[in-house]
Amino acid sequence: MSQTQNKPAGWGQGGLTGRAAELRRRFPTFRELQEHAETRTPSFAYWFAAGGAGDGAPNHSHNREAMDAVRIVPRYGVDVSQVNTTATLFGRSYALPVGVAPMGNIGMIWPEMDAILAAAAQKARIPYVSSTVANVGMERLASLAPDVFWFQLYGVPRDNHAISFDLVRRAQAVGAHGLMLTLDVPARQKRVHDIRNGLVVPFKFRPDVILEIMRHPRWALRSLRHGQPRFPNLAKYVGGNPGAQEIAAFVQQNMNSGLTWEVIAKIRDIWQGPLVVKGIQHPEDAELAVQLGCDGVLVSNHGGRQFDAAPASIDTLPAIAAQLAGRATVMLDSSVRSGLDVTRALAAGADFCFSGRAFLWAVAALGEEGGDHQTAAFLEEVRGTFAQSGVRSVEEAQRATILHPNAIWLQQGN
Ligand SMILES: Cc1cc2nc3c(=O)[nH]c(=O)nc-3n(C[C@H](O)[C@H](O)[C@H](O)COP(=O)(O)O)c2cc1C
Repeated sequence: MSQTQNKPAGWGQGGLTGRAAELRRRFPTFRELQEHAETRTPSFAYWFAAGGAGDGAPNHSHNREAMDAVRIVPRYGVDVSQVNTTATLFGRSYALPVGVAPMGNIGMIWPEMDAILAAAAQKARIPYVSSTVANVGMERLASLAPDVFWFQLYGVPRDNHAISFDLVRRAQAVGAHGLMLTLDVPARQKRVHDIRNGLVVPFKFRPDVILEIMRHPRWALRSLRHGQPRFPNLAKYVGGNPGAQEIAAFVQQNMNSGLTWEVIAKIRDIWQGPLVVKGIQHPEDAELAVQLGCDGVLVSNHGGRQFDAAPASIDTLPAIAAQLAGRATVMLDSSVRSGLDVTRALAAGADFCFSGRAFLWAVAALGEEGGDHQTAAFLEEVRGTFAQSGVRSVEEAQRATILHPNAIWLQQGN
């Protein structure tokens, strides 16, 4: 350790010293991380993550506006010298009420991003959810994050979902602590940014793509070292010794419709452990999930990536939480960017939340250091926001008073 690192942190350093303090100074929020990530990533890869559904912008910003509209009415005069940020989820204790949402094909943005995030989540003791279409296989990710590993399933309808069920059994075998079934991808959507950028996996090396790659030499070198992004969880179903091309073709041909309640009921019989449905927006769907024996719902609009007309998940959350009334765990994602957003979600009815892009931009911007940077940011911000709101624990945060002007209250049957 250098002499500077041994010096105690000065005022304004958030208790950090050395490199961590330096990164905190340069990248205090999501915004700086995303801006830096943009400079380091070819546009086809950047927009794959940054873009939304349809013409790409509305729902994404709508999520943000809805989150910003939620105000916490603080209580003062409370002793907040001891703030406890730990959260229990399905009987396991985590350091924070926020985890890493499943994100597929993120190795295209920064090779090995899956592994970096899994290791950071393990270190910080927060849940890490691996996507079906991760670029690192579930066996390796589970070994990097044995205490916090979850698996997310996209249905593979072929052969009456034989592959879906096999993936579930494999997730059980590698010790996943939870299974998330993604419902909100019933069909592939037209993602206009990807079309405009000519994004195809494996990459098609058209002149504009080559130019973009040449403009980002650090990304190019790293990608060259790691090769084209692959989908190792699916390789065994493709047959032979499949290359990137064959696996990508398999994804295109076989992952073209979503999970139905009928299939979910079958998975409930196979999977022994916490079962969560992801992408819930309507209280009646939340109710169906509980009736089928699911343990939790993740209220999400996929970070605005699937349906431009979808409401913001923070706005549908209260009605869903009220519908379930404690019968199942309620979680939220979509535009959780900071500890303040985590606190907003808890106060609006969530027991736990997940974030995708906050973690993604951190790694795209900072590489290996990005995962730890983002978990430290959430820790500092959740602590600070709890104290400022006058709450000392997740349970107290869930009872905080909020103004939530856009909350959508649906009556069953509407
Ligand atoms: C690049 C990217 C890839 C994603 N891939 C998946 C996926 O494979 N499975 C899934 O259920 N959700 C996927 N999502 C959605 C996230 O799990 C999560 O719902 C979303 O990112 C939350 O919004 P946020 O990015 O604003 O936090 C993906 C999101 C991004 C940004």
